[in-house]
Amino acid sequence: MTGAEVLRRVKAPVTDKAGRLAPLKAAALFLVVLPGAVLLIRMLSGDLGGNAYLAAIRDTGIWAIRLIVITLAVTPLRRLLAWPKLVTVRRMLGVAALVYSILHLVVYAADRAFEVATIAKEVMGLSLLVGTIALIAMIPLGATSTDAMVRRLGGNRWRTLHKLVYAVGVLAVVHYYLLLAKLSTMEATVEAGLVVLLMAYRALYAATGSRGLPLWSLAGLSIASGFAAMGIEAGYFGLRTNIDPWAVLSANFTLDAGLRPGWWVMVIGLGFVAAGVAREWQQRGKGRPSRPAVAAT
Ligand code: HEM
Repeated sequence: MTGAEVLRRVKAPVTDKAGRLAPLKAAALFLVVLPGAVLLIRMLSGDLGGNAYLAAIRDTGIWAIRLIVITLAVTPLRRLLAWPKLVTVRRMLGVAALVYSILHLVVYAADRAFEVATIAKEVMGLSLLVGTIALIAMIPLGATSTDAMVRRLGGNRWRTLHKLVYAVGVLAVVHYYLLLAKLSTMEATVEAGLVVLLMAYRALYAATGSRGLPLWSLAGLSIASGFAAMGIEAGYFGLRTNIDPWAVLSANFTLDAGLRPGWWVMVIGLGFVAAGVAREWQQRGKGRPSRPAVAAT
């Protein structure tokens, strides 16, 4: 695939014929700007608690990882929902993930009064080193997101380079786990399970020659990823705390601690599969072929 072909697929007019912002792009823009705006308002109104820097580091970090996972999900969802236009917001989401990651770093550096020696020392520790590698890996992705760079690299090289986003997802999850506040593993485990699900999807899609995956296989992947998330959570407690990992695993099978993150991974995955089923029925009703085979971009 050439760079021009990739661009044709990912680009769509930002505005419609009447000059209005296209609804999908407007929704994506709202999604990426809102957390930053809320953080700014909370900051200006002194609503970030005793340690405002720490609150801002956590907030920007959480949104950076959420946007990385959402960006990873765009292509599978585009195929599953037979919604080609979805790809037109992938670039905005990816760039927003980079912007939140850079903000996260800047707030962290500000918290350390921009003292280079302190920052350099801390960054050599495992948790910050993993985050720093993730951020460095995102830079070539952001730098090659312009039209000129897509054309210059050519479609195949651009797509190969952009597979790095999976490594970024894994590193971001590891960094998140290593810095977990108050042993609250809920969101980190959901993000970890979703990264596993999206990577497994990608591997299966490539192994089946990109002919499109049956919905039952995606349902199976969602369930397996939920169990993988349970394993990751138990492994974390086993390795990093004195809490018995078996107790953590068995907590998944009672509702005493509410619905555990592994189940949420399944709920999210199966929710999208259900949306895919609904979409197929809708397409069949209109006499259109369901889920057209689309190449990865
Ligand atoms: C792609 C890059 C990165 C992502 C996605 C990311 C994401 C996150 C997340 C999700 C958290 C946990 C927030 C929480 O506990 O609720 C976090 C914490 C943190 N991150 Fe990052 N991070 C990245 C890079 C970096 C870099 C480069 C640094 C600094 C060199 C850094 C410094 C920190 C610090 C200091 C915390 C801990 C805050 C605390 O004490 O709770 N991160 N990060």
